[in-house]
Amino acid sequence: MKKGNKMFTIGVIGAGHVGLVTAACLAKLGHYVLCADNDEDKIKKLKKLVMPFYEPGLEEIVEHQYKKGNLLFTDSVKEVSEKCDVIFIAVGTPSTPDGSADLSYVENVTVEIARALCAFKERKKENIYRLIVEKSTVPVLTGQWVKKTFQLIGPTGIEFDIAANPEFLREGSAIKDFLEPDRVVVGVENERARKIFEHIYSKIKAPIVFTDVKSAELIKHASNCFLALKISYINAISQICERVGADIEKVAEGMGYDRRIGKDFLKAGIGWGGSCFPKDVAAFIKLAEEIGYPFNLLKEAQQINKQQRLLVIKKAKELLWNLKGKKISILGLSFKPNTDDIRESPAIEIIEMLLKEGSLIKSYDPKAMDNMRRIFPDIEYCNDAYECVKDTSLLILLTEWEEFRKLDFEKIKRLMESPNIIDGRNYLDKEKLKSIGFNYRGIGRN
Ligand SMILES: NC(=O)c1ccc[n+]([C@@H]2O[C@H](COP(=O)([O-])OP(=O)(O)OC[C@H]3O[C@@H](n4cnc5c(N)ncnc54)[C@H](O)[C@@H]3O)[C@@H](O)[C@H]2O)c1
Repeated sequence: MKKGNKMFTIGVIGAGHVGLVTAACLAKLGHYVLCADNDEDKIKKLKKLVMPFYEPGLEEIVEHQYKKGNLLFTDSVKEVSEKCDVIFIAVGTPSTPDGSADLSYVENVTVEIARALCAFKERKKENIYRLIVEKSTVPVLTGQWVKKTFQLIGPTGIEFDIAANPEFLREGSAIKDFLEPDRVVVGVENERARKIFEHIYSKIKAPIVFTDVKSAELIKHASNCFLALKISYINAISQICERVGADIEKVAEGMGYDRRIGKDFLKAGIGWGGSCFPKDVAAFIKLAEEIGYPFNLLKEAQQINKQQRLLVIKKAKELLWNLKGKKISILGLSFKPNTDDIRESPAIEIIEMLLKEGSLIKSYDPKAMDNMRRIFPDIEYCNDAYECVKDTSLLILLTEWEEFRKLDFEKIKRLMESPNIIDGRNYLDKEKLKSIGFNYRGIGRN
């Protein structure tokens, strides 16, 4: 690993949606980065410049930085521990069955780094310093555990600091979010660590919020849960709209101009999903419970979210009466556009419910069909939206991919057995569809 005139080398452990983007972007910012993953196949492919998932713009940066020698890949955490001064931990923190965050991946990596450094210090007699950074989303107090674990294994003679640098990128716009964030949050224990982060992010033009480690950990959970609450709030309002015949899109527009409220995350639909919100809300509820605070506000947000999925089935029944034996086309499988990620995608729950009702599912998604095939091998996957809607009696739009807005709906009407649409994202031109002759059902606007 070259160090050249750089202050230090950076290691990133976990080459997933956050780790790989972090590694690629840090290399683009001018650092030497070694990215590790214990998935050997993933690393082999990355060395051949084959990306493990779809993220716009990622492949170009990885290719460029890899060829320049600024970004390297390894399947060895030991190698990262030995060669890198700053080590970002970006492994998964999924939900356990009781909702709490499964921190075993973070623990395993911490143990691996500490053990590797013990052995390394035996061979190297010089002073060694390591800055261990939590990049994964973790509950508050995880930093303390990482520190204790490190101290227990006790690589003597090695100085280290623990820091929290939560990530706020969104899949689909991850590169831009990383390089042009609203803010960077960094929790540090001392001036030494703070100086390193000032250097790492010196080219990023955004405020850096320096805090203690616990506050940084909390900022991430508090932010994600706030955004989930905001979506659940507008979904609750959409229910009121449906009952009185108001239009949620107009209500949200009227609310959103108020700068205290803001337009973002004020979109009614089939509810939040993805790899972050569901698990982060569940983990925050659990953590609050453990420290003696019943977070009922978040529990209610979860309930509202569940209702939004059920609403799709209710609307389908209103349009088709019985769902048994009915052919239904699903446009959009990923949890949001511009990604092939289907983790906790609303499409999974909705397809499951439709299959239980006995419906026959045809589906199409520009990027996520290979991933969905692993969960539902027996539903039909189509080459395009037109093939998907053919002979179906209901079209349900679940992901707002741009290409769906550009579809020829006159043609779609001709292809379908009966012209019924549920627009789960309020994404389509309602008036146009109605004028073509569709029975249109949105969320909070009919
Ligand atoms: N995906 C997002 O949009 C997003 C955004 C912000 C924060 N986060 C948080 O970032 C963290 C990572 O999320 P992700 O979406 O990148 O997960 P991911 O599942 O895409 O990637 C995790 C990677 O870690 C690797 N890994 C696991 N154990 C390992 C070990 N012992 N050694 C080496 N590699 C190991 C896995 O093989 C995998 O490639 C989570 O805490 C998540 O909540 C995710």
